[in-house]
Amino acid sequence: MTSVNDLRSSFTGYFARNGHEAVASSPLVPRNDPTLMFTNAGMVQFKNVFTGVEKRPYSTATTAQKCVRAGGKHNDLDNVGFTARHHTFFEMLGNFSFGDYFKDRAIELAWTLLTKDWGLPREKLMVTVYEDDDEAMELWKKIAGLSEDRIVRLGAKSNFWQMGDTGPCGPCSEIFYDHGDKVWGGPPGSPDEDGDRWIEIWNLVFMQFEQHADGSRTGLPRPSIDTGMGLERIAAVMQGVHDNYDIDLFKALIGAAANATNADVNGPGNRSLRVIADHLRSMSFLIAEGVLPSNEGRGYVLRRIMRRAMRHATLLGASEPTIYKLVPTLVREMGQAYPELSRGEAMITETVRLEEGRFLKTLGRGLQILEAETADLGEGATLDGATAFKLYDTYGFPLDLTQDALRSRNIAVDQVGFDAAMAQQKAEARKNWAGSGEAGTDTVWFGLADKLGPTEFLGYETETAEGEIKALLVDGKEVDTLASGQDGVVVVNQTPFYGESGGQVGDTGLIKAEGVVAEVTDTNKYQGVFAHRVSVREGALKVGQPVELVVDHQRRSAIRANHSATHLLHEALRLVLGDHVAQKGSLVSADRLRFDFVHTKPMSPQEMAEVEDIANAIILQNTTVETRLMGVEEAKESGARALFGEKYGDEVRVVSMGEPTGNGLGWSVELCGGTHVRRTGDIGLVSVVAEGAVAAGVRRIEALTGNAARHRGNASTNIVASAAGILRSGTHEVLERIEALQSQLKSAEKALSDARQKLALGGDNGAGAASETVNGVTFVGRVVEGVAAKDIKSVVDAEKKRIGSGVVVIVLKGEDGKGTVAIGVTEDLTGTYAAGTLIKSATAALGGQGGGGRPDMAQGGGPDGSKADEAISAIRALI
Ligand code: ALA
Repeated sequence: MTSVNDLRSSFTGYFARNGHEAVASSPLVPRNDPTLMFTNAGMVQFKNVFTGVEKRPYSTATTAQKCVRAGGKHNDLDNVGFTARHHTFFEMLGNFSFGDYFKDRAIELAWTLLTKDWGLPREKLMVTVYEDDDEAMELWKKIAGLSEDRIVRLGAKSNFWQMGDTGPCGPCSEIFYDHGDKVWGGPPGSPDEDGDRWIEIWNLVFMQFEQHADGSRTGLPRPSIDTGMGLERIAAVMQGVHDNYDIDLFKALIGAAANATNADVNGPGNRSLRVIADHLRSMSFLIAEGVLPSNEGRGYVLRRIMRRAMRHATLLGASEPTIYKLVPTLVREMGQAYPELSRGEAMITETVRLEEGRFLKTLGRGLQILEAETADLGEGATLDGATAFKLYDTYGFPLDLTQDALRSRNIAVDQVGFDAAMAQQKAEARKNWAGSGEAGTDTVWFGLADKLGPTEFLGYETETAEGEIKALLVDGKEVDTLASGQDGVVVVNQTPFYGESGGQVGDTGLIKAEGVVAEVTDTNKYQGVFAHRVSVREGALKVGQPVELVVDHQRRSAIRANHSATHLLHEALRLVLGDHVAQKGSLVSADRLRFDFVHTKPMSPQEMAEVEDIANAIILQNTTVETRLMGVEEAKESGARALFGEKYGDEVRVVSMGEPTGNGLGWSVELCGGTHVRRTGDIGLVSVVAEGAVAAGVRRIEALTGNAARHRGNASTNIVASAAGILRSGTHEVLERIEALQSQLKSAEKALSDARQKLALGGDNGAGAASETVNGVTFVGRVVEGVAAKDIKSVVDAEKKRIGSGVVVIVLKGEDGKGTVAIGVTEDLTGTYAAGTLIKSATAALGGQGGGGRPDMAQGGGPDGSKADEAISAIRALI
């Protein structure tokens, strides 16, 4: 038997041998198409190569491409479980020619692989061609030797392929396999073609056109080839089974599901087992790519898939989470071909288990209500839309679950009524906000949120994606075009740009289209709608236009590092300072991070160093940073740190990093919607550069990471090196040398001041100024220069000591021309003369006023130092 894994490599190996580049599967969330929910064919990643916009270093390629068809143009969700061949997730094998070979070589390659390498009997094969494609008809006759009755001409409905409403397209030719007369059905084009006997196994598309949104079609630069073969279908053929769900891969998955639910593989629960096996694949692959269940966009489709599978598990009697137990089997079967599954195993398992837990709660309640509401309804009846809406709105029971639950009782749901109830609720919400007196611009955002719904954020996984312009604004008003030179706001349906929130700044970058470049200077988020602030540099942006959105990678990387480092510092602060450390705010920008927290006193240098050491130790662990989606309560129970008083939705992203110390999710676990590094090592290093107070009881630290931290460290090192150069010392001796210089300087200053005092006192012999006797009192009056003003008091003291009893006046003629005067009166005379009174006459003589002090010592000054002698005479006259 040829296993699925063998067939996959056999196919790509065959085309690689025939000169094709073996290219890896692209992600399920397309990065290059704004209109596509999930990659739904092998050609999606090559879309722009076909149209000539993108160049690759090869002109032919082969892939095994992961595909999901559950939402959008190709949606098979509701059929899964009811047919032998529908899947939400499948693999498409394909070969591609980008203007290299065309129809003849494509047919030859396909025919040779099927009939020679894989040995399928020619008589079991038939082909179809587009009705007027005579060329293909002739080629099949010539190359495959098929007679005309084995080649069926069919119309555009089945033989003209297009990816979606826009994109490359062309006539196609399909190869069918006959499963034999034990199965009912007729060949393609026959009245019984819908039967299961003749199965399409390979579609060869002769890509020739590009379909545009306005309905027009233009030719591709060169005719090309895109083929698609469902791996599950060809595996069924090669393994001699009729049903896709009987191939080895599905046997293993269904077996595991049966085991986990104690169901009989061949019993009535078989349909549910198939649903579980199929949905297990799509949910696991989507989660591995970072799509998490939510109530919007892709996350909502994922949630629907998950909940549908979970509902089928309960139909098989499961009352506890069960599907998560099947993840290891899937990883065993497919992990080698898709390493992202092995890498993401823990994350997938956990996300599924949590969603199952949540779902079982919702389901229990919802089913009870549903049963009560439909007790009176008989077979063929219809449940009214209002009730279905109440189940959805009040109990979180999605419409398709209601439909699915009622399908077995043959009860329909009034979808029109459901939609009307939904519309009415929205209208009421609108009334509420319209009357709430919001500022004008806010009203615009409520209106846009209502009209367009939330913007889907792709930026956790990618920094580049295509989006479609949904609205343009100038000064808060909607416009159709933003022309070159204009500033405005761009709203798209999906974006990799992060809108400022949770302390993390908005992304910047470029919005591009052919001939159009707009610079994104900031991104905000209002009511779930992302506002890209742009300046158009070239060309014009128009509503409805598909554009490429490119985030500034370097800046975003720095922001990621700073955000993850903030989490590490938060936890480290708590460990070092205590449990009272609660986050009060944060700012995560590209050049630094800031974190405010509750703490009453300044941090000591030791505490800062300890915090930094701890955070850097976790960086060095280099563990992966994991993001999970959890219920708020559940997240808090798991020990995740949340911002006190912050309003969170029902579900939150929980970011964990570092090796868990207990049995928690990680060393640091926080509720956070921001963007983070993949591994803690990506932060590089973190360095705390400032600590201070912001408000009573709130401290703030600032830190740098990665290159910014390194550059700052380098700058400090350079300063030390330059200092060492100036000091002519080694860098290690710099401190010692500076200390030595400082004490040298101090003693030199002291020596200088001593010398000046001595000088003021009349030189080295200490003879002092000549004294005279005025009115029976010893009086010393002296003018000095070159002494510091602060030193003249000590000159006065010295003179007082020397004369024993008397009055001393020292006037300093400053270098700046001002005069400073100090007057001393010995203790025995203070009853007669008060220095504090005398001083006023001296300062007056110097052109100043005031001056003051004690009775025994006073000081003052005036602007005119040249009047120093007059100041002395003024005092002499008072004695
Ligand atoms: N793109 C083609 C398909 O999906 C091959 O069928």
